[in-house]
Amino acid sequence: MIEQILDKNNFNKSDIIRLLQTNEIESNLLFKKSATVKQKNVGNIVYYRGLVEFSNICKKDCYYCGIRHSSQTVRRYNLEDNEILEAAKVAYREGFGSFILQSGEIQNPLFTKRIEYLLKQIKKISNNQLGITISLGEQNKETYQRWFDAGAHRYLLRIEASNIDLYSQIHPNDKRHRFNNRLACLISLKEIGYQVGTGVMIGLPFQTYEHLADDLLFMKHIDIDMCGMGPYLEHEKTPLYAHQSELLSKKTRYSLSLKMIAILRLLMPDINIAASTAMQTINNYGRERAIQVGANVIMPNITPDKAREDYYLYDNKPMHTQYERKYLEDNLKNINHTIGYNKWGDSLHYKQKNAKNSLFKPRTIH
Ligand code: 5AD
Repeated sequence: MIEQILDKNNFNKSDIIRLLQTNEIESNLLFKKSATVKQKNVGNIVYYRGLVEFSNICKKDCYYCGIRHSSQTVRRYNLEDNEILEAAKVAYREGFGSFILQSGEIQNPLFTKRIEYLLKQIKKISNNQLGITISLGEQNKETYQRWFDAGAHRYLLRIEASNIDLYSQIHPNDKRHRFNNRLACLISLKEIGYQVGTGVMIGLPFQTYEHLADDLLFMKHIDIDMCGMGPYLEHEKTPLYAHQSELLSKKTRYSLSLKMIAILRLLMPDINIAASTAMQTINNYGRERAIQVGANVIMPNITPDKAREDYYLYDNKPMHTQYERKYLEDNLKNINHTIGYNKWGDSLHYKQKNAKNSLFKPRTIH
């Protein structure tokens, strides 16, 4: 039965639901298949993106997030430009190949200008060598275009939940939190020419297997280039914490996340899939496990230590990473993976898509 589904070259919704509901023995078949498909399409190379969470100031009030605007207990920070640029130098020096700038969401002309400046500086100090991903929430198209022109070439914006009703249950119902706006942002980013990444949280209150299957079909439908998804992890000081007792166990959220990654690898063999930090929060080897079943990107956190503890999206978010590089390298070697040092590690899906469409010229890729 599972074998029959796995033999298909495309899955419908009920196939995906069945795959999500696999028991341990069955899911090993899924993982074996997704590992083979991964090997064949993107190989056993893991790309690093050095992640800097440069500010936790946020105008959004997402019910699940520890740095939401209304949270009174968060100490707000905003790193200095030179601190961010120092971190970019670290990423460059360490051979990470790519850098991610992430922060809470704000929209204003000064912020737009600041990011534009930082992007240009990062390009400059790395002799144009560092790839840059940004993850700065919903902005207008003009802002996205300015940041693209300044050197960013990948954008991460999780849809969080692709079902509009579920989306409305985990966000306030106001004009700052419109599902349709988020969707429109993803479309603008694609039109501009970014490699676009999205993703969802897995194991949210109110979420069903059907929602998760639809999430995967949504990603396929909008033809994403990259994905970052991971388990929902409760944060005590957020509204969703009230639903704590209704959640799946952490272990189940974790194994469901592995299955989501594996199925997505089968649905979209040549995209980039990140092994999220949230996976690591539940299991020390969560990221390595995600890599084994289909992920091919890791985002080591290189946020300066002084800010680390204030970017606390969910409880038990890992803090240490000073020794991460050697540790990860050894672990990845143990599972027969190498690290693509000094490479951008762009989404093959993006390259292949654009090669087919010669009217659309992708930015030069390392
Ligand atoms: N659990 C898991 N992931 C979370 N994020 C925010 N809050 C949580 C949480 N409680 C994720 C969101 C967001 C990303 C930066 O972090 O998906 O897009």
